[in-house]
Amino acid sequence: YTEEELYRPNFHFAPKKGWMNDPNGMFYYNGYYHLFFQHYPDSNVWGPMHWGHAISNDLITWTEKPIAIYPDEKGYIFSGSAVVDLKNTSGFGSLQNPPIVAMFTYHDPVKEKAGKTDTQSQGIAYSLDEGLTWTKYENNPVIKNINIPDFRDPKMIWDNIHKQWLMVLAAGDKTIFYASKNLKDWELLSDFGKGIGAHGGVWECPDFFPMLVDGSDEYKWVLLLSINPGGPNGGSATQYFVGDFDGKTFKLDESFSQDLKQHKSLWIDYGRDNYAGVTWSNISETDGRKLFTGWMSNWQYANKVPTEKWRGSMTLPRELKLIKAGNHFRVSSQPVRELQNYVSKTIKKEVLKINEKKTVLIDKSLVDLSRLDIQFTMKNLKKDVYTFSLSNDSNNAIHFGINKKEKYFFIDRKKSGDLSFSDVFAKQISKAPFTEDFDKMDVRVLIDKTSIEVFYNNGQTVMTEIFFPEKPMETFSVTKENFNFTIENLTINQLNFN
Ligand code: FRU
Repeated sequence: YTEEELYRPNFHFAPKKGWMNDPNGMFYYNGYYHLFFQHYPDSNVWGPMHWGHAISNDLITWTEKPIAIYPDEKGYIFSGSAVVDLKNTSGFGSLQNPPIVAMFTYHDPVKEKAGKTDTQSQGIAYSLDEGLTWTKYENNPVIKNINIPDFRDPKMIWDNIHKQWLMVLAAGDKTIFYASKNLKDWELLSDFGKGIGAHGGVWECPDFFPMLVDGSDEYKWVLLLSINPGGPNGGSATQYFVGDFDGKTFKLDESFSQDLKQHKSLWIDYGRDNYAGVTWSNISETDGRKLFTGWMSNWQYANKVPTEKWRGSMTLPRELKLIKAGNHFRVSSQPVRELQNYVSKTIKKEVLKINEKKTVLIDKSLVDLSRLDIQFTMKNLKKDVYTFSLSNDSNNAIHFGINKKEKYFFIDRKKSGDLSFSDVFAKQISKAPFTEDFDKMDVRVLIDKTSIEVFYNNGQTVMTEIFFPEKPMETFSVTKENFNFTIENLTINQLNFN
């Protein structure tokens, strides 16, 4: 197998060549979703950061465009965001042709080498051709360093509740909120986060926005916050907070504070490969979805995964929802509905009683196991371990499932193929502790050549991980240790992307 055949994802965005990390500057405009990304085109390891660019009209099939923003004498172009300035508040465009305005972090490698700590500041750039080419603002930086070494990843939104441009910035062990009228002059509002939530590493790549509580007209503000290290299973991961914002200050919701007492932190994804994820801006009022994508890797081994021509891919774009489960707010994720348009064949099994130790659910004579969307309901779950496996006849397997006895979901990639590039990649099983008890569970699984994304209970608990098998996976099976159980409404959707 060539690297392309074996490892290039079928339906996850990966750059044609070179290094990629965080998603940046995502916005929707004129029928296209734009995705920019941390990119070093000249090598397959992290280096001087550019913003790469790709567009899609359905979030699934992407076309890579020329590099959007290049590093310059002020520094590398680190992560950031973009908004469509429909009213031309910045004056960079016109009402007929509204400018797209991006804010990114300038990281100055010269200062860094000299041992200085004020290396990071925020700059802006605008585009008058739908994100294809960009002009940097002449008076950059618009936000100077304020003596904080980790001072980066500005995420802007139009705050339609308080009628202001709003920006959230990561600043070491907290986030700082800023507001603006023209996207050029920014006023510091407040900060949030010291001593709250997970602090195992530096805070990075925040995102902050209001969300309607699913099925009601109540809204709350959600803060996404990536940290590295300190994720639930090691390395980098993204936590979230739910609360209220009065236009200046963010305060945790009372029930969410209680949740944090119990669970310490809540994570958008408990797997090891969903990092620095943020949401698209300018999604139309009629659509109204909160659309998210993350970088499908982990700083623990991202620079070493066994691809040569390119490195890094994104999660499948997901729709976030704010759900109230009993008294608890949860941010759930589900694959975007556009994926349905790619289903080429469906296999259904209504009721399956699993009473043998191992049951093969599907094999390669029926489908290609590197482009699947599988959905099912598990019933009669007792105190037992339910293990699903994706495997091939080279003895590669990736296992995932539910440990009802010890109350966690898991992914185990210890035998998933090439592990030689890193000591920590598959050292231990990844776990997501239950946040509630159940005897029934809806499960959805997306399988690509080198990734698995598992959505439990309508996406209230998610686990995403990558793997590198020696040959394609060939069989999907389930094992259970003691009790019989039932799988209902198993739907296996073969996806086709040609
Ligand atoms: C997160 C991050 C950001 C930074 C970027 C640099 O993965 O460390 O904080 O802007 O990557 O590439």
